[in-house]
Amino acid sequence: MEYIGAHLAFKSRWEKTDEEMCRHSMSFILHNAIRTDFFASYLYLLEQIPLVKLYALTSEVIDGEMQFYARAKDFYKDIEASDDGMMGGFTELSDVDIKSSQKFLAKLIEGPCKVGTEFVLDCGSGIGRVSKSVLLPIFSNVELVDMMEHFLVEGQSYLEDEGEKIEAFYCYSLQDFTPEFRKYDIIWIQWVTGHLTDKHLLEFLIHCKCALRENGVIVIKDNVARHGCRLDPVDSSVIRDINILHTIIRKSGMDVLYAEKQKGFPEVCVPVWMLAVQ
Ligand SMILES: C[S@@+](CC[C@H](N)C(=O)[O-])C[C@H]1O[C@@H](n2cnc3c(N)ncnc32)[C@H](O)[C@@H]1O
Repeated sequence: MEYIGAHLAFKSRWEKTDEEMCRHSMSFILHNAIRTDFFASYLYLLEQIPLVKLYALTSEVIDGEMQFYARAKDFYKDIEASDDGMMGGFTELSDVDIKSSQKFLAKLIEGPCKVGTEFVLDCGSGIGRVSKSVLLPIFSNVELVDMMEHFLVEGQSYLEDEGEKIEAFYCYSLQDFTPEFRKYDIIWIQWVTGHLTDKHLLEFLIHCKCALRENGVIVIKDNVARHGCRLDPVDSSVIRDINILHTIIRKSGMDVLYAEKQKGFPEVCVPVWMLAVQ
């Protein structure tokens, strides 16, 4: 009823103002004030805080960064170093995945991007399932990075037929790894972005950007949530929706050149997308 008080207080000055006009003018002022203040605060936050924090993202769903990473290590230490282990039990989808990746890569190499084929880095490589069928047939030098030693040890025999093309097996967590400056034509990041917090994914993408050679491209292939960001407590990963992924990519100073949805996976599976990023 404050507006009635204000109305009465100014009644002598606003002789022609009736109660309703007064109420409208008060709510108009209030509305404007809220709108201006809200956007001022929003813009301030955009300046001060990394953009990704404005979303209900990893920090809100993972229940502590250290535990998030420790649980993932704990999960993978019991996972078999095999195709089946890399595919989370969905081995029958490996061939479909590989064929789509091969086509996607061919478009990057043969298309207008003119990506080179000298050096490639396979991130979160596991035993090297992607390296074996997608990368080794194309690139002269392949490097793998994964946090789990037993996957990389197995990778050495799993990939031994093309052993001379393998330059390095790096045993690092991606959040602690900086790829060499301007070395790679392609940096392939498959089914591992969800194991990084937003902050670490952003930092890692910035490192990858610096590690690309001229015309180099980062390929992200991962599960994509239909909406928002949710935790998978089984392997301690998050699944982000496509807008969140795009936001993090843009924040890293890059853009999605093109994106393609993985076809041929059963409807019950979480959608998988391939993004070419530069
Ligand atoms: C689902 S497997 C996918 C393996 C491989 N990219 C493929 O598509 O066959 C996930 C891999 O990511 C690795 N990984 C998980 N979190 C990681 C991290 N923070 N840094 C590096 N590797 C990680 C795991 O050890 C595992 O090898």
